[in-house]
Amino acid sequence: MAEQQVYNIAVLAFTAAGVLILIALFFIPAPYGRHLKKSFGFAVNNRTGWLLMEAPASILFIVFLFWGNQHIGIVTVVFLLIWQAHYLYRSFIYPFRLIPRPMPLAVAFMGLFFNIMNTYLQGRWFAVIGPEYAASWLRDPRFIIGLAMFITGFAINKWADNVLHRLKRENPGTYRIPSGGLYNAISSPNYFGEIIEWSGWAVMTWSVPGAVFAFWTAANLMPRAWSHHRWYKRTFPDYPKERKALIPGVW
Ligand SMILES: NC(=O)c1ccc[n+]([C@@H]2O[C@H](COP(=O)([O-])OP(=O)(O)OC[C@H]3O[C@@H](n4cnc5c(N)ncnc54)[C@H](OP(=O)(O)O)[C@@H]3O)[C@@H](O)[C@H]2O)c1
Repeated sequence: MAEQQVYNIAVLAFTAAGVLILIALFFIPAPYGRHLKKSFGFAVNNRTGWLLMEAPASILFIVFLFWGNQHIGIVTVVFLLIWQAHYLYRSFIYPFRLIPRPMPLAVAFMGLFFNIMNTYLQGRWFAVIGPEYAASWLRDPRFIIGLAMFITGFAINKWADNVLHRLKRENPGTYRIPSGGLYNAISSPNYFGEIIEWSGWAVMTWSVPGAVFAFWTAANLMPRAWSHHRWYKRTFPDYPKERKALIPGVW
């Protein structure tokens, strides 16, 4: 079978899986962190789990890009650098900032599966499936707007994760109500930032796999934001009433 056919099937299957995940996660929150369930079997340290899930996205992107003899243009190199800005942090820095606690191996394997599939779709798009981006793409409004969204989302996500890490370090073993900045408006600014970030990727690459990745990110994080929000309201009777789950002022 030609790679184009394999790729098309992978896009369809991955998108269908994203729809199922979106529905399933509203009923069964991904069992890690505050939603951890012992019934999900053997657990590893969360640092190991995050490293196992995320490092392949950083490494395999390079493999999928350079596998073959195709020409890699300047725009693809820019996309590679943007990708690595996220995944080098997420794979090799983020896990070591976590306070160690168990994470079911099953969760890590699901994340690993997602990252292998997604990295294949993104990497092969630039390598062989998609059109070659001319250098002038870097001046195209779609690239500029998408990049601005990516940087904004990246900044919100890192800031929001830092607030939570500080709270965790200061109150080991417990949870507190986060506050300040976007936390005054929504329960999960880290997820809000991540969704903006990968929506920016979809816009700046103007590609089918970019759109599928943005959809998957929302499919993963909308239900989790909803579960977190309900958990906060259940756990803290004084949780701010006006605070929304994920989208300021809306939801
Ligand atoms: N692209 C995607 O599909 C995708 C999917 C999942 C995650 N992510 C990203 O990965 C990052 C981590 O996600 P996550 O689901 O682990 O986030 P999370 O549930 O918000 O937890 C992040 C960290 O903050 C701690 N924490 C959260 N709320 C706290 C509170 N109120 N008080 C004290 N500590 C608190 C957590 O401790 P505990 O571990 O003890 O709960 C954990 O160490 C986020 O930036 C997210 O956007 C991306």
